[in-house]
Amino acid sequence: MNILGINAYHGNASAALVSDGRLIAAVEEERFNRVKYAAGFPAQAVRYCLAEAGITLAEVDHIAIPRNPWARLGTKLLYALRMPRFARERAKVLARFAGIPEALAAALDVDPQRIRGRFHRVEHHQAHLASTFFVSPFEQAAVLSADGLGDFASTMWATGEGSRLRVHDAIAFPHSLGMYYSAVTQYLGFWKYGDEYKVMGLAAYGEPAYLEEFRRILQSRGAKGFRLGLEYFSHHRTGPDMTWREADKTPELGRIFSQYMEQRLGPSRAAGEPVEQRHRDAAATMQARLEEVLFELLNALHARTRQKAVCLAGGVAFNCVANGKIFDRTPFEQVYVQPAAGDAGLAVGAAYFVYHQVLGRPRSFVMDHAYWGPGYSPEQMRQALERSRIDGDGFQIDELPEAELARAAAKEVADGKIVGWFQGRAEWGPRALGNRSIVADPRRPEMKQILNERIKHRETFRPFAPSILEEAAGEYFERSDPSPFMTLAYAVRPEKRGVIPAPTHVDGTGRLQTVGRSANPRYWRLIREFANLTGVPVVLNTSFNDNEPIVCRPEEALDCFLRTKMDTLVLGNLLVHKPAAFEPPDGGPGPR
Ligand SMILES: [Fe+2]
Repeated sequence: MNILGINAYHGNASAALVSDGRLIAAVEEERFNRVKYAAGFPAQAVRYCLAEAGITLAEVDHIAIPRNPWARLGTKLLYALRMPRFARERAKVLARFAGIPEALAAALDVDPQRIRGRFHRVEHHQAHLASTFFVSPFEQAAVLSADGLGDFASTMWATGEGSRLRVHDAIAFPHSLGMYYSAVTQYLGFWKYGDEYKVMGLAAYGEPAYLEEFRRILQSRGAKGFRLGLEYFSHHRTGPDMTWREADKTPELGRIFSQYMEQRLGPSRAAGEPVEQRHRDAAATMQARLEEVLFELLNALHARTRQKAVCLAGGVAFNCVANGKIFDRTPFEQVYVQPAAGDAGLAVGAAYFVYHQVLGRPRSFVMDHAYWGPGYSPEQMRQALERSRIDGDGFQIDELPEAELARAAAKEVADGKIVGWFQGRAEWGPRALGNRSIVADPRRPEMKQILNERIKHRETFRPFAPSILEEAAGEYFERSDPSPFMTLAYAVRPEKRGVIPAPTHVDGTGRLQTVGRSANPRYWRLIREFANLTGVPVVLNTSFNDNEPIVCRPEEALDCFLRTKMDTLVLGNLLVHKPAAFEPPDGGPGPR
């Protein structure tokens, strides 16, 4: 039985294919169309998923869409009456969703009559809950979804048991942890979709100096969760829906903090203005208050469910700083967050919701790695290399067997080179986890600055992350619970902070990836070889890109390699050295 999950007309458009309960493929549209967080219809992602499964649309039995226009209809109507603009937006959204069968048929260039599969509407947060629990290793768990807004709710919690999810409660618009985080992120001068990540990094540089004020901005309601102090916000007045720019389909969220927030906290920072201590302190306070409320919610969820394990999803589940503290601040003993915790994950969630909750099929699958995207053959990589301007331009190219390749690449890293590492199938979710990664030496304190100057051009306050051999995690970090998807940050042991300064954040934590030998044998081997050379079983891992979606095809990896000041590229078994005198076309991209 084949189920196609499609997250369309929403940020992070994506598709996933589940066959007899096993995940076959899952990928975001942005990896193909090269537009970060792309919305629209994920035509290329759908085509890829079917191709990976070797099936046609006629062989898809169920099509799962993570949006249910009937959910919370009463509340929606109430807002529609009050806000004509909102009513118009809803009508547009409904029309777009009604056209999904046609869009799907057009994407595959077939007659809509050829669609045999049954369509299912899955409420946004139920799809989030399903996206984490049904692929988790747990037979039973508490499950929490929290994000900005989806189907007019922001938060939902449940108990998962076998192939069932039992929803306990939800929090509806306009109260939302995601909106809270986004509003303060905007106030701090970061306006791009996805900038919340930056502010989470910035928080480590400040002190939670404004807690009293932030307790009014985000208010606790005990076991009922939380509410927003609405006077600090404007989204409840202006309309909640995300728009996306017609030009490139990038999602955009209009201003959602009110003038009152500026009256209370001082003027907002304009994008590009210097970041001052009060901004750092506001970021730190926002994070501290999020944690207070999140842990209250999780403690209440534990009291209600008495489960040992908790599964998280929704954009808030990307808050690795908070996630890493769950063990200490709640009674939960195990935490699972799947790699695409945000809205891309809805494609997987909707598909599994249909398989288990709707069709009642038993569980048989655990997502224990993230490699569900496109992969390329050695022949395709070689051809990409031949077509690039690398051929005959003074580059040294060696084809090496795996053991030698890992050793040679590890040597490059240990020598301070910046190494592009392109292997196997692309990662599902926003983190590079050793298949589309840039790897560097974690022991060099200057490496963060070098990476920023030569390749990444990121804000200096944003941390880089460590990948560590799973078996060595406890030696370097205060916790050793697996974190295969970089969704947890742990404190680096004080005596090790000087050993791996480059991926250790200013507060002494690291958003680690624990690398298991069976999950990614080749990446594990690279780190093992690096440990053999240096005694340190850690590499710095950052995503293979430069202000663009993570590279997907070998051509994009080569392009990024040539465009930036990366030293070495490992493309499958090919090791490519850049000539020392090589200059990127225009002297390299400048800071943005
Ligand atoms: Fe969501």
